[in-house]
Amino acid sequence: MYNSVLTYLFLCLTLFELLEIVSTIDSPADESTKFGYGKPHHLIEEIHGFADAKQFLQNYVFTLTPLKMTKAVTSSRAYSLWGDDYLDSMTQHSPDNDKITVETIKKENRREEVLEMDFSKFLKIYNGTEYYMVNSVPSFLRKDVTFPCSIQCEDLIRNDLVEDVMWFSSGGTKSVVHTDSVDNIICVYRGEKTFIMIDPSLYKDQVDMDHPEGAYSGVDVDNVDYTVYPGLAEIEYYHVNLSAGDCLFIPYKWIHQVRSYNSNIAVNIWWNHHSSLNLDLTSCTSECDPDLTLEEVQFHGFGDLIGSLAAVRDQIEGFLGIRKKTDYTRFFQLILGGELQFLDSAEIKDMNSTLFEMFDLLDRDKNGIVNMEELKMATDEDWKKVQHTLQEIDNLLDGVEGEVEELDGGEELDDDINDFFTNTRDEL
Ligand SMILES: *[C@@H]1O[C@H](CO)[C@@H](O)[C@H](O)[C@H]1NC(C)=O
Ligand SMILES: *[C@@H]1O[C@H](CO)[C@@H](O)[C@H](O)[C@H]1NC(C)=O
Ligand SMILES: *[C@@H]1O[C@H](CO)[C@@H](O)[C@H](O)[C@H]1NC(C)=O
Repeated sequence: MYNSVLTYLFLCLTLFELLEIVSTIDSPADESTKFGYGKPHHLIEEIHGFADAKQFLQNYVFTLTPLKMTKAVTSSRAYSLWGDDYLDSMTQHSPDNDKITVETIKKENRREEVLEMDFSKFLKIYNGTEYYMVNSVPSFLRKDVTFPCSIQCEDLIRNDLVEDVMWFSSGGTKSVVHTDSVDNIICVYRGEKTFIMIDPSLYKDQVDMDHPEGAYSGVDVDNVDYTVYPGLAEIEYYHVNLSAGDCLFIPYKWIHQVRSYNSNIAVNIWWNHHSSLNLDLTSCTSECDPDLTLEEVQFHGFGDLIGSLAAVRDQIEGFLGIRKKTDYTRFFQLILGGELQFLDSAEIKDMNSTLFEMFDLLDRDKNGIVNMEELKMATDEDWKKVQHTLQEIDNLLDGVEGEVEELDGGEELDDDINDFFTNTRDEL
């Protein structure tokens, strides 16, 4: 009797210990090393359905305050119709079977291979691959997506729309920690998404965006190394869960990181924050039009952002990074980095002299380094010149894009240009 109780106790303990081991394997013990976990975190404000457009702009957009809007798109056709069979049947109505851009790794690193394929092909294979559609909503699906009621303002719709993106995968995607230089409403139509957000007005300087060229951080979102990113240990986070039908407003420049769960589709709309600040609020509908869909509206692309001086200033400030300064070599690379492989040395020399002139304009004390104080001193006239240069560079790059198609992959950089970049990257 005595023995069997002991045996029983022993068994219990062993079982208990075993269970504990199993559960630590099952739900990784490093849950707390995930980006945004194991640190103070809060919830954001939440309302049911879409916020009224005028109030939304005044109380959330103008003040850069995030907002979760639950079950806001449950009456959108995309919410009820977008099963795989329906999506596939719609590809039959596509005149030119839209090609879409597909990322090939679910854990984003911004260096992964990106493929172009027919939407119908993606549909057949996405469940068995890491493929992640990141592309504007295909033409034949746009009429299914109700334009978010909270931004149904004629003025905004006519002038400020930048881009829409459909995010589609079998779930398990993880984005990098990043910011966007636009306002964003994202709505989930299938599955769940989790957002970790950081208020830049409080913590911008603690989050090291060590890839300013893409406004993102190289931190491993599954295993944050707080010795490399000590600022991340000292800040507060917001956690937001969205399920199908829910939408989230992510304000301009808010730092965020996104995970998806289960078969997953979301659509987001980006608009120009700066120009929406001057919006005519009387052009906002008080009565939402559920029949206004993506088919009826025009997006102008990120190129149009350069049109706003504030956006130009933003972009250059972003290049300074957490160290708040940059030398010319780094500056040059941030602006031309991705394009360099497609340029010949004459073109590079050309852009170099244009860019150097612009850098020199901002470098007031002519010490070869541009810092935040110097940017603060730049006048509107200076910014107009910077804007002009960026537009010029944009046009030049558009010009070479035609040739780019001819090249298959990056050709070797000229040796002298390679030398130019050696040893300079991490000097600052
Ligand atoms: C992919 O998986 C989802 C969820 O399990 C399922 O609903 C869908 O029908 C699958 N699609 C294909 C094309 O197999
Ligand atoms: C989000 O969902 C997860 C999984 O269900 C849950 O553990 C977590 O507490 C939720 N977070 C918020 C902020 O609701
Ligand atoms: C770019 O221009 C600067 C200033 O004229 C010069 O010092 C530098 O060597 C040039 N670099 C390239 C790659 O041409």
